[in-house]
This record gives sequence, C-alpha cells and structure tokens, in this order.
Amino acid sequence: MKKIAEGKTKKILKIENSEGIVKIVSKNTITAKDGEKKDIMSGKARLANNTTSNVFELLARHGIDTHFIKRAGQTAFFAYECGMIPVEVVVRRIATGSYLKRNPKVADGTIFDELVMEFFYKDDELHDPMICISEIAPEEWQLHRADRPIDFSVYVPYQSLSYIKTIGSHFTWKEADYIEEQAKQIFLILEKAWKALGITLLDFKIEFGRRKDNGKIIIADVIDNDSWRVRTKDGKQLDKQVYREGGELKEVSNLYEIVSNLTNRFPTLNLQ
Ligand SMILES: Nc1ncnc2c1ncn2[C@@H]1O[C@H](COP(=O)(O)OP(=O)(O)OP(=O)(O)O)[C@@H](O)[C@H]1O
Ligand SMILES: [Mg+2]
Repeated sequence: MKKIAEGKTKKILKIENSEGIVKIVSKNTITAKDGEKKDIMSGKARLANNTTSNVFELLARHGIDTHFIKRAGQTAFFAYECGMIPVEVVVRRIATGSYLKRNPKVADGTIFDELVMEFFYKDDELHDPMICISEIAPEEWQLHRADRPIDFSVYVPYQSLSYIKTIGSHFTWKEADYIEEQAKQIFLILEKAWKALGITLLDFKIEFGRRKDNGKIIIADVIDNDSWRVRTKDGKQLDKQVYREGGELKEVSNLYEIVSNLTNRFPTLNLQ
C-alpha cells in the first residue's frame, strides 16, 4: 500500500488494485490550537477509529451516503477516495466556543431552535477563517476572522475589521445547499442517538469531499471525539475540551474511552 497523505491524526493509504478505495489509518496523536498543541496519547487511534466507525455505521443505517466502506482492523477503515473540499462545516444546536466571539450578544448556552450552520476555510496559518458567501457572487468567497464579530458595515472589504481576503469558491451555490442539507440531517441523526444515551450534542464539525470515482459530494474524513462537543446531564464535557484546557492526558484518554464505549451502543438504539 502506498501512502498518499498524512495529516496530524491520520494517514491515507492507497489500496493497490482497488481503484478509488483508500485505507484511513488513525494515529495516536491528539492536537489542538491548529496543531500548535500536540501530544501522543496511547490508545487514541483505536478509540478514534471505533468512534468514527460507529458513527458512519449509524449514518449508513439512516440512509446517509458517506465515504465509509468498512472497518479495517482496530485502527483503520476502508473508504472511498475523495478529493477533499478544504472546508469545515460546523453545525450548532447550542451557542458556545468561537460562536460567542463572533456573536457577543448571544449568551453562552443559548439553544437554537433552528440549527446554525457555518463554513470555515481550512487553513491553519489563517486560523481557519469564516467563509462568507453572497448569493450575488457565489463564485467568490470572502474570508473573515473567526475570533471576532464579522464586520459587514463598510462598502469596501479592506476597511472591514474582520476581512482577511477573497478566494475562489470550492463549491457552487447549489452544492452549498446540498452540503448544508446533508450536514443538518447528519446532525439530527447524531443528536437523537446521543439523546437516547442521555447525552447532549452541542455542535460538530464535519468535512466533505468529492468521490474520485463518480464525483459525488459526500461526507468524508472522520466524526470522532475530536469533532464534536458532547455533555452529560450534569454538565460534564466528554470531548476534546478537557485537552484544549490543559487537562491531564490520562483524564483525556478516559473520556475518549467513555465516548468510544458509548458509541458502541448506537446499533441498539431505536431513534424513531
Ligand atoms: N476519503 C478520503 N479520501 C482522501 N483523503 C481523505 C479522505 N478522508 C480524509 N482525507 C484526508 O486525510 C488527510 C489526513 O487527515 P488529518 O485529519 O490527519 O489531516 P490534518 O492534519 O487534520 O489536516 P487537515 O487540516 O487537512 O485535516 C487530510 O488531508 C484529509 O482531508
Ligand atoms: Mg483533519
């Protein structure tokens, strides 16, 4: 097998003689702050792979088309090879994190009746700026700083307090609609699954790609404990937040284990 990509948390291997299929191998790395903070956490690859596989299997059972094909041992899965779209699609039920910086008038913990959808451009150096798309010129994307309110009060973008630059779009207006609709459906399925286990899903980030074999846009990459915020009834956060805030690796690893074990129950849930 030939390695075609390696990122902070995964390696992508090309399978010989099976066109369009890759093996996605998790690593024992945990990172935060656009990769500035980084550690090796023993067992992370196994826990991440189990969590993401449980999630993709749940989505498949609910009719979502994903890149996931099947597990390939404890730390890897087979997937359809995609040309990845460099966008993080964030869906929020509850206001927290960077959302509060962009919307300082919204109180921490505000519940959105209608899911909030945001696009961020994947660029560690630019700190994953927010993508603003206008219906008038959808072929151009304005990038704005994600850590302050988006400033549209001026006529020329360079006078805006949040504007960074404009880039060419990576998907059409129609594709954006499709991605939003898929992301919302995925969120609703996962929200229900977590709720059945007594856990609140606050938000998540997912990524999409275009399948190499047929060009179709599908959810790719992973959805694991690095991708979302999940909280117990008594307010204990079970995701990467503890790591971001400098928690002990042992404590972080325990949480990843708890989450991985909880997702093992996804197949038994009746989500009607
Ligand atoms: N189905 C797929 N086909 C091809 N590449 C994929 C697929 N799913 C995920 N990838 C890519 O695998 C690479 C490794 O993932 P990883 O998350 O470790 O990267 P990363 O360091 O976080 O960088 P990035 O910021 O691109 O996510 C990424 O470039 C990701 O886009
Ligand atoms: Mg990544």
